[in-house]
Amino acid sequence: MLEVRGLGVSYGGIRAVDAVSLEVRPGEIVSIIGANGAGKTSVLNAISGIVPPDKGEIRFEGESIGGLPSHAVVARGIVQVPEGRMIFGTLSVEENLQAAAHQSGRFVLRRRSRPDLQRLFPALADKLDSPAAGLSGGEAQMLALARGLESRPRMLLLDEPSLGLSPRLAEEVFGLISRLREEGITILLVEQNVRRTMALADRAYVLESGRITLHGSAAELMSDERLVSNYLGIPAPESLNPSSEEAQPC
Ligand SMILES: Nc1ncnc2c1ncn2[C@@H]1O[C@H](COP(=O)(O)OP(=O)(O)OP(=O)(O)O)[C@@H](O)[C@H]1O
Ligand SMILES: [Mg+2]
Repeated sequence: MLEVRGLGVSYGGIRAVDAVSLEVRPGEIVSIIGANGAGKTSVLNAISGIVPPDKGEIRFEGESIGGLPSHAVVARGIVQVPEGRMIFGTLSVEENLQAAAHQSGRFVLRRRSRPDLQRLFPALADKLDSPAAGLSGGEAQMLALARGLESRPRMLLLDEPSLGLSPRLAEEVFGLISRLREEGITILLVEQNVRRTMALADRAYVLESGRITLHGSAAELMSDERLVSNYLGIPAPESLNPSSEEAQPC
């Protein structure tokens, strides 16, 4: 579905991403994990057209999308939910959703019925008229995801959706990601909560200083000594069951 080959991103001549190749197949959850500054956001930004790649190829459903402006990437069906959430605090929850629908070119005259919102985000559905600034961290993340869904993406790029959330709220966000996949949305997920992410993802890529250093199925990587010692800091876990242990950011 998404194929990235030899991707490079530089800022002012300084290389942040070098020769990154990855693939996401329809219906998968694929994760990119890596330390701060590894280049995770830069990879997502290059795919979604926020920063121009300076080398390589990005193909979505067989067509080249590398270097397209972000609105054109959204129109093809890829939506990025950025790190930091980017919601408008002074607007209501409903207005935030309407703004996202407008941005994606879907003109909204008045409040639509929102069966999807009720089903996927019941906490938000009760707060449509509340200012977004009053939402809890978990609710704000849900709103960011709901905004992303307004343009009916086939693929979501999620940048650290659990960042800053308590383990309980992070768990809700991971649960929602799993439900979105069940709804048929393919997901590329950047996370630092490695243990929890590996329990959710089908496959993962480890990014270090702008390069992919490891990739494989989540099960393979969870038994890889380098991943365990660099990102989990404890002996290889006997199980991938997230409920066996409190999820901790790594
Ligand atoms: N707009 C920018 N201008 C200049 N340098 C940048 C810019 N954005 C990122 N960088 C640099 O590129 C490198 C990769 O950054 P990036 O934000 O992609 O990493 P990341 O893996 O997402 O990090 P984090 O975990 O902190 O979000 C870093 O060295 C960063 O300082
Ligand atoms: Mg980042």
